[in-house]
Amino acid sequence: MMTTLEQVYFDQLRDLYSAESQLIAALPEIAEQATFPELRDAFNGHLEETRKHAERLLVLFNKHGLTSDAVVCDAMKGLLKEAKKHVSETEPGDVRDAVIIASANRIEHYEIAGYGVAKAFASTLGFGDDADLLDETLQEEGDADQAITKIATGGLFVSGVNEAASHV
Ligand SMILES: [Fe+2]
Ligand SMILES: [Fe+2]
Repeated sequence: MMTTLEQVYFDQLRDLYSAESQLIAALPEIAEQATFPELRDAFNGHLEETRKHAERLLVLFNKHGLTSDAVVCDAMKGLLKEAKKHVSETEPGDVRDAVIIASANRIEHYEIAGYGVAKAFASTLGFGDDADLLDETLQEEGDADQAITKIATGGLFVSGVNEAASHV
């Protein structure tokens, strides 16, 4: 049973760590499935950031004397399962890139929600340094989400996918 906000906050941090760890394992495979070079680059770049996100959480675990392995994030498990399913339902190319983008945006929004809540809890509990560190990750998740959207709306969805669809 969790009886304090502090316990809920720590549980949220562990859940985020599980989510980031699952992403670190899955992102190389997802990047490999993308055809559009900018999309691949974006995933590989975000993999490096994702490693940093996990490290930041470890800093917080050390500070608070927590272990990192007590929670499995079932939501991220589900998001990744769905992403892999959609990839398997498409051929390599623009349409597969579109389903990868759809999955990536969902994943980023999940992370944005998680870090936003964790940051708010940290502030409420008086852990200002925690809030600052969580905010760094929150900003990067937002940037990653926007970068993926920009790739989609700025080129891929306009030319690639529509062109591919018209040749069906
Ligand atoms: Fe992350
Ligand atoms: Fe992310």
